[in-house]
Amino acid sequence: MSAELPVELRAGLVAESGAASEERLAQSVERLIEAYRSGRPASAPILASRVDVAAYAAYRMPATFAAVRSALGQLAGAYPDFAPRTQLDIGGGTGAATWAAADAFPTLTGITVLDQVGEALDLGRRLASGADAPALRSATWQQWQASSVAALPAADLVTISYVLGELTAAAQAELLDRARRAAGVLLVIEPGTPAGYERILQARTTLLGHGLTVAAPCPHQDDCPLAAVRGDWCHFAARVNRSALHRRLKNAQLGHEDEKFSFVAVAPSPALLVPAGRVLRHPQFRKGMVTMQLCRSDGSAGPEIVSKKHGNLYRTARDVEWGDAWRSVSSQLT
Ligand SMILES: C[S@@+](CC[C@H](N)C(=O)[O-])C[C@H]1O[C@@H](n2cnc3c(N)ncnc32)[C@H](O)[C@@H]1O
Repeated sequence: MSAELPVELRAGLVAESGAASEERLAQSVERLIEAYRSGRPASAPILASRVDVAAYAAYRMPATFAAVRSALGQLAGAYPDFAPRTQLDIGGGTGAATWAAADAFPTLTGITVLDQVGEALDLGRRLASGADAPALRSATWQQWQASSVAALPAADLVTISYVLGELTAAAQAELLDRARRAAGVLLVIEPGTPAGYERILQARTTLLGHGLTVAAPCPHQDDCPLAAVRGDWCHFAARVNRSALHRRLKNAQLGHEDEKFSFVAVAPSPALLVPAGRVLRHPQFRKGMVTMQLCRSDGSAGPEIVSKKHGNLYRTARDVEWGDAWRSVSSQLT
């Protein structure tokens, strides 16, 4: 799935990239990639300067926007009645998840972003001031530490996007506990690596243990069937179109990249959810046949073959993408 960056955000990122020379931004991008790759909890803020923040916005915001937007698309499909008015974005940085939420849910009227890095909040505020969505323009940007004991403000949608990996296991558990108390729906999203998936799996288990219902991506509330499969993990991909600056900062040739992400969205009210299978990888298209890896509502996962003999179902299956909802053929034919 591809989600275009809102034009106002694209323009804002170009304007903000003038904060430092491209050489300094590129050096910062290199350092940030290294720091995020290490996978170790951060002992000090990774975004350590104004240049880091500008570099992060230029090379990561398009990707985290695309990932969150894609996850919210799955959530909206599974929970069509969800119409949040308020969002709390925890560890929101420069606010990519708020742009994604405003794009997915025009019902939003109030947005609060919390982060430890004042420079990131400042940049996020400046970018949001140019947004079309009134909820973004009027968002509240507040400096905050995950270790602070104050209760989190309640919100219909709480997002924790690419944050858990910077925290110790104990701090992750503590934050999730406070977030689920504040949330209507809680979305937790991490890089689509085996380590990111492990954190999501842990979060999913904890949140289910508190009686919450998984709204997306899983079409069931059982154990993740991929957890038992060696070398496989549940993740999705979002296409990101790279701007010329983005390409230069990453020293990349291609005009796009695929951002891989793992996530879980939990809701308090199972009655509103629409269970369907979930396509787990790029489907394979061969003459007269579509093969997809499917996570099914009975808690199993495996290949699903849709062939020409399935008529209309086959025609629909040819348009199916990784991450789409798909009911297994047997349940669609009964
Ligand atoms: C990789 S960035 C993700 C930013 C944003 N959520 C996104 O998706 O683009 C991680 C963010 O978490 C924030 N963060 C990490 N540890 C934190 C802590 N202990 N307290 C508050 N914020 C924290 C960082 O400052 C940073 O802005």
